[in-house]
Amino acid sequence: MDFYEAVNNRRSIRNFTDEKIPEETIKRIVEAAYKAPANDHFRDWHYIVITDKDKMREVIDGVPKNLNEKDVDNMTFISDPEQKRAYQIAVPMQYRMLIDAAAIIIPLMKKKCDILHPSSLSDLNCYASVWCSIENLWLAAVAEGYACNLRIPLGDEESIARKVLGFPENYMIPCFIGVGKATEDAVKTKQIDINIDELLHWEKF
Ligand SMILES: Cc1cc2nc3c(=O)[nH]c(=O)nc-3n(C[C@H](O)[C@H](O)[C@H](O)COP(=O)(O)O)c2cc1C
Repeated sequence: MDFYEAVNNRRSIRNFTDEKIPEETIKRIVEAAYKAPANDHFRDWHYIVITDKDKMREVIDGVPKNLNEKDVDNMTFISDPEQKRAYQIAVPMQYRMLIDAAAIIIPLMKKKCDILHPSSLSDLNCYASVWCSIENLWLAAVAEGYACNLRIPLGDEESIARKVLGFPENYMIPCFIGVGKATEDAVKTKQIDINIDELLHWEKF
């Protein structure tokens, strides 16, 4: 698939078929993550792939299972109607989109500082770098004919996953990634319209 086709086809997909993903394909997708830039040259990441449904259930046991559209009303930061609609679609899907995926892929990032209390922007470089790798992985999955979603772990979601997976304390999960074959009628939120001529500035703002 052409690079721009992958970029333009990449969407957050939360509805999957039962189709499994061959191991070699998952390996290629994860290898693409390691082609991303890394602030300190180390690419100090691990990726855990979980395809066993029982294990997937254990790992995401902390993810809320019964959220609905009404929970979005309590999210006071949302004012734009298109953004609200996107959340109304996504929020009730948080558990299903992961458990219905062919695999949950978990990036692990080595914590090199207290990223919740950074003293400068560069303290966040390790977090920024792992997200570069996540986007590479996502685009590689699209290029392979698959789709992804992602969830930021909240509350005790990370510690539950840590207990099941046994990764060390000095690694953190930036997000859970659900990957699989999109159903034909997979719901896609409407992307905000972008007018590139208003946003792209030449020589000055
Ligand atoms: C940093 C980040 C955090 C996100 N967190 C979540 C999440 O917790 N749950 C979810 O369903 N989608 C999450 N998303 C996906 C966004 O909702 C999605 O990218 C956005 O609505 C645009 O839709 P699109 O990806 O289909 O273009 C996240 C995306 C990013 C980049």
